[in-house]
Amino acid sequence: RPRVLSGIQPTAGSFHLGNYLGAVRQWVALQESHDAFYMVVDLHAITVPQDPADLRANTRLAAAQLLAAGLDPERCTLFVQSHVPEHAQLAWIMNCLTGFGEASRMTQFKDKSAKQGADRASVGLFTYPVLQVADILLYQANEVPVGEDQRQHIELTRDLAERFNGRFGETFTVPKPYILKETAKIFDLQDPSIKMSKSASTPKGLINLLDEPKATAKKVKSAVTDTDTVIRYDAEHKPGISNLLTIYSTLTGTGIPELEEKYTGKGYGALKTDLAEVMVDFVTPFRERTQQYLDDPETLDSILAKGAEKARAVAAETLSQAYDRVGFLPAK
Ligand code: TYM
Repeated sequence: RPRVLSGIQPTAGSFHLGNYLGAVRQWVALQESHDAFYMVVDLHAITVPQDPADLRANTRLAAAQLLAAGLDPERCTLFVQSHVPEHAQLAWIMNCLTGFGEASRMTQFKDKSAKQGADRASVGLFTYPVLQVADILLYQANEVPVGEDQRQHIELTRDLAERFNGRFGETFTVPKPYILKETAKIFDLQDPSIKMSKSASTPKGLINLLDEPKATAKKVKSAVTDTDTVIRYDAEHKPGISNLLTIYSTLTGTGIPELEEKYTGKGYGALKTDLAEVMVDFVTPFRERTQQYLDDPETLDSILAKGAEKARAVAAETLSQAYDRVGFLPAK
């Protein structure tokens, strides 16, 4: 079985709809066909300041949501990044292979550091993509299921894998991004020119999966569309409606042409009312399942402990090869 690996940050509160449709949904599907490794990236989370108690709670919350979304510990390896120390160890080697200019060109760093100010932004934030490279290469992943915003980091991973292999001999699998065109970028409901995100979206434009279903329904009904009345997919001229059609189509498994047909002659209001219902039907059981996992932290922690053990077995083997290739003296 080909291998996939991906990660998600333990953000405060809950995952948003972009995380789910852009990434987690694919993770669930790929566990059937692939040897799948998925992790909560707490090392990445501390590249910006975190309250320790919140970080711990959000890490459990992230794991609970991944299970609620359909990850099955019998079918995939689910773990917490800091439980596998090899991530930080391989990241150091990768840092030493990355050009300063090369790292400076990562657009996510540029965006995030511009917001924080150059002196506030940590060196960890700067080398964030290099840690992600280590995450992926440790598992010899063939594919990395992510949203479009992560593409540049996967390209860096490919470059560094090839560089290492070229310099020290074949060691790492060169991975490919796995990005589904339809859901690569889910947009903000109030401003369909920007991606849905915790940092950029206004509360009304952001669908948090654990919000009150009623509040979610309201956000869908007040989504920004356009002054036209025709329900048609046209990402360029009708970004708001197209985003709603994408969401509707993926959550229900109905093709977009079918939806266009269904709503011919009906107004935006009809589409939004139906989509609000679809969304409520999706988030209601998701909230319940997440809560069940949170109510039983022992089970949750033991799933994560087993995951870490399986992950470490793979990661330790890759790291020891890399140490050897680089020329580190074995500790006898
Ligand atoms: P993170 O936690 O920001 O996001 C998790 C996943 O959600 C996707 N995503 C979106 N997809 C479509 N539309 C959106 N509006 C949207 N917003 C977020 C992201 O593309 C991502 O796939 N650096 C990563 C985490 C990471 C990782 C890794 C991923 C760390 N190590 C190794 C893959 C492999 C991140 O911060 O994702």
